[in-house]
Amino acid sequence: MKSYKKADFPVEKVRRFLEPGPVVLVSSAHKGERDIMTMGWHMILMDEPSLVGCFIWDQNYSRELVRKSKECVINVPTVDLAETVVRIGNSHGPDPDKFEEFGLTAAPAAEVGAPLVAECYANFECKLTDTSLIRRYSLFVFEVVKAHVATSPRYPTTIHYRGDGVFMVSGRNVSYRRLFKPENL
Ligand SMILES: Cc1cc2nc3c(=O)[nH]c(=O)nc-3n(C[C@H](O)[C@H](O)[C@H](O)COP(=O)(O)O)c2cc1C
Repeated sequence: MKSYKKADFPVEKVRRFLEPGPVVLVSSAHKGERDIMTMGWHMILMDEPSLVGCFIWDQNYSRELVRKSKECVINVPTVDLAETVVRIGNSHGPDPDKFEEFGLTAAPAAEVGAPLVAECYANFECKLTDTSLIRRYSLFVFEVVKAHVATSPRYPTTIHYRGDGVFMVSGRNVSYRRLFKPENL
C-alpha cells in the first residue's frame, strides 16, 4: 500500500479534508418573514431519532428565524444550483427575499412552518430539539420529522465544500456492501 510524503498543515484548515456531507440550503420562516442560508457545517448525530447538528453563525438572519420558530428545512441542492448556492451564501435576508431574488419556489411543508425549496433534490423538515449548545458553539440540534426525497436519480450529484471557493462534485459510486457488518450499513 502506498504511503504519502507529508508536510505540516495548519490545524485551522483541516476542515478542507473533513468537511462533512453535501452543502445544503437551510430555509426558515417566522411571523411572515422567511429566509434561506447556505450551510456546509453539519453532521448526523443519531439515526433513531433522526438528529442533525448544524452550525449556524450568529451573524446570520436565519439564526433568528430558526431560534424563534424552533424549526427549519434542510434542503439538498445538486450541482446545477451551485452558483445559486454561493449567491445565497453571499447575501443576508430577509430583505431582499431570497426565494424571489434567486427564482426559487417555496413549497409548503407538512410538519413545519418553514418552506421547502422545491428545486432541491431532497427536503428534510426539522424541529429544534436541543438548544444547549447554541450559545457556546452555535450548534443547533435538529430532529428530522419528515423527509421528501426525489425518486430519481438514485444518487444525486451533490456538491461538497472544500473551502477556498472549491466544491467537490459527487461522482462515482462504489459498493462494498458485501464486506459490511449489517449494523454498519
Ligand atoms: C459554501 C458555503 C458554506 C457555508 N456554510 C455555513 C455554515 O455551515 N454555517 C453558517 O452559519 N454559515 C455558512 N455559510 C454562510 C451563510 O450561508 C451566509 O452567511 C448566509 O448569507 C446567511 O444568510 P442569512 O443572513 O440570510 O441567514 C456558508 C456559505 C457558503 C457560501
